[in-house]
Amino acid sequence: MVESYSKNANHNMRRPVVKEDVVSYMRTHLLENQGHLAEIANFAHHENIPIIQHEVVAYFRFLMASLAPKSILEIGTAIGFSALLMAEYAPEAQITTIDRNPEMIALAKDNFAKYDSRHQITLLEGEAADQLNQLDQEYDFVFVDSAKSKYIVFLPDIIKHVKKGGIIVFDDVFQGGDIAKPIEEVRRGQRTIYRGLHRLFDATLKHPDLTASLIPMSDGLLLLRKDADQVILED
Ligand SMILES: C[S@@+](CC[C@H](N)C(=O)[O-])C[C@H]1O[C@@H](n2cnc3c(N)ncnc32)[C@H](O)[C@@H]1O
Repeated sequence: MVESYSKNANHNMRRPVVKEDVVSYMRTHLLENQGHLAEIANFAHHENIPIIQHEVVAYFRFLMASLAPKSILEIGTAIGFSALLMAEYAPEAQITTIDRNPEMIALAKDNFAKYDSRHQITLLEGEAADQLNQLDQEYDFVFVDSAKSKYIVFLPDIIKHVKKGGIIVFDDVFQGGDIAKPIEEVRRGQRTIYRGLHRLFDATLKHPDLTASLIPMSDGLLLLRKDADQVILED
């Protein structure tokens, strides 16, 4: 029994931003997970551990095959599902993934020991802000899937560690659609995340040295391409 996630922990994951019948169609018609990825996804669903949803799995297969990144950074490992997915579909990539939750780290380590057969994945344990500070390389692809209110805090360090032409994907940026509402209509407990996500959008969507895209898939993906060697963010 995994303690970290209660049955009600993932409020926004149950509020699709796309019509439910379309979501259901995508989840039942896209290629299923196979082998160990199916096993880990089933475990995550059984234990209510939030991993990327199936339409995002299919999108990541597509991105990995098309971009063929050689170096990947992930913030938010959980039990290692998305890291192992990227390892499978980007077989030449070295992947660094960060998490701070000891229970998730223990499960991820088990999964990597069993299934990271090409030794692609390095797990960094600790608060992402601290770990990001210590990275000494640039990455082709970054996947950000951690505490949403911190995305804006991590942004400068993430941008610094992406190559020119590299891609950053942020997961869950629509808050089940709340992001488009005035703040007064958002539950009080969700307002810090709401403000953080708006600051992230303000900093990135129209930045001259970034190409940005918002994709209404799952709970919303923000995609950024770094178009210059140096990207200066406004305070
Ligand atoms: C949504 S889960 C990641 C799911 C994973 N990417 C997947 O799809 O298989 C989010 C994870 O981020 C971790 N996390 C959240 N905020 C963090 C932070 N500030 N530093 C490090 N890890 C963090 C949590 O412990 C949790 O395991």
